[in-house]
Amino acid sequence: MLRVENISHTFKSGGEMTPVLHNINFEVQQGEMVALLGSSGSGKSTMLNLMAGLMKPTEGHIFIADQDIVKMGENKLAEFRRKNIGFIFQAYELISSLTVRENVELPLVFQSVSPSVRKQKSLALLEGVGILDKAELFPSQLSGGQQQRVSIARSLITEPSVIFADEPTGNLDTKTEEEIINILLNLNKKMKTTFIVVTHELEVAEQMQRIFTLRDGFMITEKHGVAEVGPEEGGQQ
Ligand SMILES: Nc1ncnc2c1ncn2[C@@H]1O[C@H](COP(=O)(O)OP(=O)(O)OP(=O)(O)O)[C@@H](O)[C@H]1O
Ligand SMILES: [Mg+2]
Repeated sequence: MLRVENISHTFKSGGEMTPVLHNINFEVQQGEMVALLGSSGSGKSTMLNLMAGLMKPTEGHIFIADQDIVKMGENKLAEFRRKNIGFIFQAYELISSLTVRENVELPLVFQSVSPSVRKQKSLALLEGVGILDKAELFPSQLSGGQQQRVSIARSLITEPSVIFADEPTGNLDTKTEEEIINILLNLNKKMKTTFIVVTHELEVAEQMQRIFTLRDGFMITEKHGVAEVGPEEGGQQ
């Protein structure tokens, strides 16, 4: 479903070179829910942004549904992203002047789906994340956890094949974090959507089917929280 091949990335600004990712390889199957774990600065967001097609890597290939998104031109990539990729941000990124329901429907507005179909789909998703009663309120009238539920519903409305979530519980207290992770786990089970969840918390990562750990831009693969140290570990950094 998702295959990352020999990805390396170096940020260049001015004369400054910042190597961030080093020869990353991994695969995620359709319907899997995996964690990308690592401490601050290890390269998690960079890896996620590359996989979501938000930027191009210095080297390597990223296949989603057998298509190499690294090679895609801008227009084709924009369309591919709209159809296949969902994103959940740490800071929710909702539009304050739109209601909860309108926020969830927004990706479909760009796909010229009729208002009645949009409404039906958004209300079903809001029910699925447990905030149907908030549909006609504005984001500022919701708690952080409720706002994140809205952004989860919004990410699902186009029925993407994969959803990338960057620290989706980073702004939330422990109890709300548990609720949001449970929602994601249930959606993954029910809808078979593939999820890649970035986190720096082992307790969050351990609830996923597999954990990929980044350390200083190098990847170490772990399964079910039991470390399986790869050949790269201990190599030159
Ligand atoms: N646009 C950029 N230009 C230069 N360096 C960058 C840029 N973006 C990120 N970096 C550097 O890349 C490294 C990895 O950053 P990244 O945001 O991927 O880390 P992260 O694992 O997501 O960290 P956090 O848990 O704090 O969000 C950091 O050292 C960062 O300073
Ligand atoms: Mg980050």
